Amino acid sequence: MTVIQPPTELPMSVVCRPARAQDLEFADALVVSSINDLTERHGFGPTAVSSPPNFQLFCMKDDADGLWVAEENERILGFAWSWVCGDMWFLAQLFVSPDQQGRSIGNELIKRTIEHAGKSGASNRVLITFSFNMVSQGLYIRHGLLPRFPIYSVSASREQLIGHLHGPRYAVTPLKPEASTLRRLAQADEWVLGVSREKHHRYLIDGGAATGFNLHDGNDWIGYAYVDAGGHIGPLAVMEPDAVAPALRTALYLAAGSGASRISAFLPGASKAALDTAMTHGMRIKCPMLLMSSREFGNWAQYLPRNPGFM
Ligand SMILES: CC(C)(COP(=O)(O)OP(=O)(O)OC[C@H]1O[C@@H](n2cnc3c(N)ncnc32)[C@H](O)[C@@H]1OP(=O)(O)O)[C@@H](O)C(=O)NCCC(=O)NCCS
Repeated sequence: MTVIQPPTELPMSVVCRPARAQDLEFADALVVSSINDLTERHGFGPTAVSSPPNFQLFCMKDDADGLWVAEENERILGFAWSWVCGDMWFLAQLFVSPDQQGRSIGNELIKRTIEHAGKSGASNRVLITFSFNMVSQGLYIRHGLLPRFPIYSVSASREQLIGHLHGPRYAVTPLKPEASTLRRLAQADEWVLGVSREKHHRYLIDGGAATGFNLHDGNDWIGYAYVDAGGHIGPLAVMEPDAVAPALRTALYLAAGSGASRISAFLPGASKAALDTAMTHGMRIKCPMLLMSSREFGNWAQYLPRNPGFM
């Protein structure tokens, strides 16, 4: 006889509550330990390090309904964080402490954050998860998000990259927080992704998390690219698909010039030109991830996300 297991119930002692600013540093430490537990179990070694929770705080000030913690006896056991841009709700993080997984805490946190999606009226729900995590994918499929395409985290040492750098690239000028620039960036994202991310450009440009550049071909504006002090590229967007290879090459030059010892990027499997460019420049796949969404959207041959939380 087949016995169907009833869903596990959240223990009464665990409560979910809106996150507070003072929770965010602890939540980041929890996320780092949960990621490293997962990637070590799958043979990738530790892949995450702590960083100040600046983007979390920015999102909390913008819309506090998107950040939740699960707590038991005043100990935080899980964290969920989502943000909304126009018609798109994005789940930036959902993590449960490694020793607390399988107790229905993830189920409960996702319920709260899906309520945030409902309230926002966004018709599309999106996230990026580890392609080797069956638990998270099972959870998301049950909430109507389906796997769309892989996204690869790739990197190379600066020396290796410099030895391979050749081919056409674009002229660049710095992105400035001017109304005309922000309008152009918003229009580019609407064209490529279907939503404006003006507030997120403001965060990157004003907060200094990364340095942004306009990409130019003569008098034509091609798109934008960001590069940070750690040699990481993204987000990057171009108005036409055939601009991806020279745009990525330009960003690789900029990243190599940052002085960072490793250069990295985050490349959608939907972008043949981006993957080809990375491989011919000696970059290696470090971690396979997966974009899941409630419907098809965006032109992913023209956009390189920054990371799984920023998209
Ligand atoms: C993913 C994660 C948040 C889930 O939280 P959790 O508290 O462990 O999960 P829950 O106990 O609430 O529920 C997990 C559900 O997944 C289901 N599940 C487990 N393995 C599965 C599989 N192989 N296929 C499909 N579903 C599966 C379980 O059946 C369970 O649902 P049920 O209790 O209704 O049967 C947590 O495991 C985690 O932090 N993992 C590591 C980090 C990570 O990958 N986070 C997501 C990043 S986007």
